[in-house]
Amino acid sequence: MPDANPDQPDPANPDSPERAYSDFTRSLNYGDYLRIDTLMSAHQPVTQAHDEHLFIAVHHVSEVWLNLIVQELRAAMTLLSAGVTDTPLKMLSRVVRAQEQMTNAWEVLKTMTPADYLQFRSAFGRASGFQSAQYRMMEFLLGNRNAMLLRPHQHRPDLYGPLEAVLNAPSLYDLALRLLSERGLDIPPSVLERDFAQPYIQDEAVLAAWLTVYRDPERYWDVYELAEKLIDVEDNFRRWRFNHLTTVERTIGFKTGSGGTSGAGYLRKALDTVLFPELWQVRTEL
Ligand code: HEM
Repeated sequence: MPDANPDQPDPANPDSPERAYSDFTRSLNYGDYLRIDTLMSAHQPVTQAHDEHLFIAVHHVSEVWLNLIVQELRAAMTLLSAGVTDTPLKMLSRVVRAQEQMTNAWEVLKTMTPADYLQFRSAFGRASGFQSAQYRMMEFLLGNRNAMLLRPHQHRPDLYGPLEAVLNAPSLYDLALRLLSERGLDIPPSVLERDFAQPYIQDEAVLAAWLTVYRDPERYWDVYELAEKLIDVEDNFRRWRFNHLTTVERTIGFKTGSGGTSGAGYLRKALDTVLFPELWQVRTEL
C-alpha cells in the first residue's frame, strides 16, 4: 500500500487543512479582527523606488513596537505608583523584548545602500523620526525630559496634550525612587518633589540609597529586581540609538537630517543621555 500523497486532499485526516473554517460570511476572520486592510493602507510609497517599501515597512514596524512599549510602560507605571512591583517587572521584561525587535530592524534596513536611499530621499521633505510622537512618549515616560522636543507637535493638540502631560508627571525612574522612599530609604524631598518637566539631576543621597539596596539584595529584593530591569531597558535604549546612528552614518554620512538637525552629530550627542544615572554609578561604588 503506497503512502498517502501529502499533496492530495484528505478530509479524513484530522490534521488536514480542509478541516479549517472557510465560511466567514457571518463571523469575524483574521483580516477583519486585525484590520489588516487599514494597516496596509498606510503603506503608500510616493515614488517608484524599490527601497522605499523597505523604508516605510521598517518605520511602520518600529511604530507598532513603540505603541506596545508605551502601553506596557504606562501600565507598569500605574501599578508602580500604587506600590505594586511584581506585575510591572513582567511588563518591563516585555518592553525589553520589544526593544530588541526594534534594534533588530536595523539589520533589515541596513540592506539599503546610500544610492538606493537617494532615489526617494527628496520625496518626504522635512519628515523625520525626530517628529515621532510615540518615540517621544517613550522617552518622556523613561525620563528623558526636554520640553523643546514637544515643539514639532504644536500643530497637533491631540499629540501635544498627552506628551505635555507626561513631561510634567513623574517618570518611571521617579516612581522607582518613590518606592525606595516607601521602603524606608532616605530619598530627599528635593528629589521626590522635583519639577518633573526638568531633566533629572544625579543625587548623592539617591546613590547612597541604591548602594544600600545593592549591598543587601535579599532584603530589598523587589526594588533590586526593578533596578536591574531598568538597566536592561536603558541598555537596550542605548543599543537602538547606537544602531540608528551607525545606520544613519552608512546611509547619509554626515549630511544634515531631514528634520533639520546636524544629523549624525545630533544623534551622537544624544548617546550621552543617561536615564538612570545612579544605577550606573552604583556599580563603581560596590
Ligand atoms: C536610513 C534610514 C534613516 C535615516 C537616514 C535616519 C536619519 C535620521 C536623522 C538624521 C535624525 C536626526 C534628526 C533629523 O532628521 O534632523 C533622525 C532622528 C530620528 N530617527 Fe531616524 N533615520 C532613519 C531611520 C529611522 C527609523 C527606521 C526610525 C524608526 C522609528 C527612526 C527614528 C528616528 C527617531 C525616533 C529620531 C529622533 C531621535 C532623537 O531625537 O534622539 N529613524 N533620523
